[in-house]
Amino acid sequence: MMQIAPALVSLREITKIFSNGVTALAGFDLDVFAGEFLSLLGPSGCGKSTVLRLIAGLAQPTQGSVTWPGSSDTDHRGEIGFVFQDPTLMPWANVADNVWLPLRLRGMSKHAARNRIAESLALVGLSDFAKTYPRELSGGMRMRVSIARALSLRPRLLLMDEPFAALDEIARFRLNDDLLRLQSELRCTIVFVTHSVYESAYLSSRIAIVSPRPGRVVAEIQGEGPGPRSKEFRASARYAALCGQISQILLDQTAEERL
Ligand SMILES: Nc1ncnc2c1ncn2[C@@H]1O[C@H](COP(=O)(O)OP(=O)(O)OP(=O)(O)O)[C@@H](O)[C@H]1O
Ligand SMILES: [Mg+2]
Repeated sequence: MMQIAPALVSLREITKIFSNGVTALAGFDLDVFAGEFLSLLGPSGCGKSTVLRLIAGLAQPTQGSVTWPGSSDTDHRGEIGFVFQDPTLMPWANVADNVWLPLRLRGMSKHAARNRIAESLALVGLSDFAKTYPRELSGGMRMRVSIARALSLRPRLLLMDEPFAALDEIARFRLNDDLLRLQSELRCTIVFVTHSVYESAYLSSRIAIVSPRPGRVVAEIQGEGPGPRSKEFRASARYAALCGQISQILLDQTAEERL
């Protein structure tokens, strides 16, 4: 019999009103399940970054709840890695020291952290760049450092806020494949925010489409299972159909908004 596991994180009936009176989210419900690659897709300003911040505990809902149903811990920050749209590296610190930061903040000396730093850099293919400074790296490489830094704590849950939006398509495709490989190696759960229909269709095991502000989940689409894609996937009918299905829902959303 199929077992239905409890959600890793559960958001229920969330309303988020900022102090300036903006209602970013209203009636927002979402479950994040262990091992999935969940994308949040929606128009600019619909509250996607706000959702990630609520999951990370960096912001509190005005109403509603964010819970971890399978866990009695109250502080989940040590289990979460956050990758921001901008790599936000420390320019004065080399790559290894940037990756060390989350470990250092948890009291780990550089000596104690050295294996973890090396492993994290190896995961993103930057083993030869430990002593390099951010200014000497390409945009794609900086984003890899940012991902290595988020992975340094070996998070169960990786939150990614449009991490590849600033990259050219070739770099983006490569990082997409690397990310799927990383996820299957580390067996982590990923919540990924993107504006891109194509990126969400390629990466996700599930896609949650968020309405224009105030944001709520208006549709969920099942994607391919987690894990690396075959070389043929980008040219497959399955991928084209997914892209079409997602685009149609987004278009219907904006059409309603314009009426
Ligand atoms: N700290 C804040 N104070 C006031 N308003 C905010 C704050 N943070 C976000 N907002 C507003 O809440 C809404 C949702 O913002 P959010 O950044 O979550 O959207 P988003 O979906 O991530 O947008 P984008 O795709 O452009 O990144 C926006 O209207 C934004 O202006
Ligand atoms: Mg955002």
